Amino acid sequence: MVEVCRDVYWVGAIDWSGRDFHGFETCRGLTYNSYLVTDEKNALIDGVKHEFAREQIRKINSYVKLDDIDYLVVNHVEPDHSGSLPELLRRANPEVVCTRRGKEGLEKYYDGEDWNFRVVKTGDRIKLGEKTLTFIETPMLHWPDSMMTWLEERKVLFSMDGFGQHIASSERFDDELGVGEAIRWAKIYYANILMPFGRNVLRTIKKLEELKINPEIIAPSHGVVWRNPDRIIREYVKWANFESESKAVIVYDTMWHSTEKIAMAIAEGIASKGVKVRVFHVRKDSWADIMTEILDAKAVCIGSPTMHGSVFPPIAGFLAYMKGLKPKNKIAAVFSSYGWGIGAYEEIIELLKDLEFGIIEGLKVKFRPSEEELEVARELGEKIGEIVAK
Ligand code: FEO
Repeated sequence: MVEVCRDVYWVGAIDWSGRDFHGFETCRGLTYNSYLVTDEKNALIDGVKHEFAREQIRKINSYVKLDDIDYLVVNHVEPDHSGSLPELLRRANPEVVCTRRGKEGLEKYYDGEDWNFRVVKTGDRIKLGEKTLTFIETPMLHWPDSMMTWLEERKVLFSMDGFGQHIASSERFDDELGVGEAIRWAKIYYANILMPFGRNVLRTIKKLEELKINPEIIAPSHGVVWRNPDRIIREYVKWANFESESKAVIVYDTMWHSTEKIAMAIAEGIASKGVKVRVFHVRKDSWADIMTEILDAKAVCIGSPTMHGSVFPPIAGFLAYMKGLKPKNKIAAVFSSYGWGIGAYEEIIELLKDLEFGIIEGLKVKFRPSEEELEVARELGEKIGEIVAK
């Protein structure tokens, strides 16, 4: 039994072996959280991924009969939360509570299912008995259908993907896992799922304040429940504003170690100015970790060999991933080893300009870097280090 607070129970699932969340590497697994609120009427907040439907139903049945659920609140349509709905709704007939866009999404995903919808918008309330659910639309945080649900009498905010973390653990609360550890996982989640939606994050936090929603507990749909909501809200404000630290990230790939040698020389130059450097090989390191470091870095350096007149394919793949996540407020430099064409350098510069990064002139080296060219790379690193340290 996991009691979040009086009359609120966790009835989710732990996916210990899940290692991929649509391309986001989840090296420690993940959870799909669902919550049961009991009263004169009972409400289930969200489903879980399809393959965990029976596990969710077993947990619900340990508190109330499935038939006794009056409302199934769908805060978000994405199948990691709605996948168990067909199984749940074959065995019970609650009202399915969601936004207008939520209804559209559920009807498309689960075509042919005849569900009893109740469409809600911001400020709508459902009285369960002693307790009340209030709904807050949070469009594009991170889908158009997204909303949060507020349980006023217990001061619990069911925040959907917001404030989530992808980590499987036996601990269900931030203070059990360790608040610092929970924030570390929340940062990885934010960088890889919510980074493009920083403005919506800030808008939502403001909206919650205007609605006088001051949660004592934030119960997201992934990871541990926050009993220290102020800590994670504070971090979210920093991340959404792209507050940076004195840090540079170097991401590279290499064919015959030439681009790698340049990467190491630039790193040496940056570090010589007392600035933190993180160096990642794009085929050996986790893209989720790279993006987490980029989130609060001031400088990003991208290194790619030129292959077939263009960007080395693994770097091209990573750049597409980074472009989608839209990091902001960075300076950037490009370095490249080439044989007879400099296509990679130019292409990467164009992409970084699209991201509105401030471009510093980088380095192009024919074949293998000489000692003189490595010295130029160290000087480039020193220049980047000086800018970051300011
Ligand atoms: Fe956890 Fe947007 O789904």
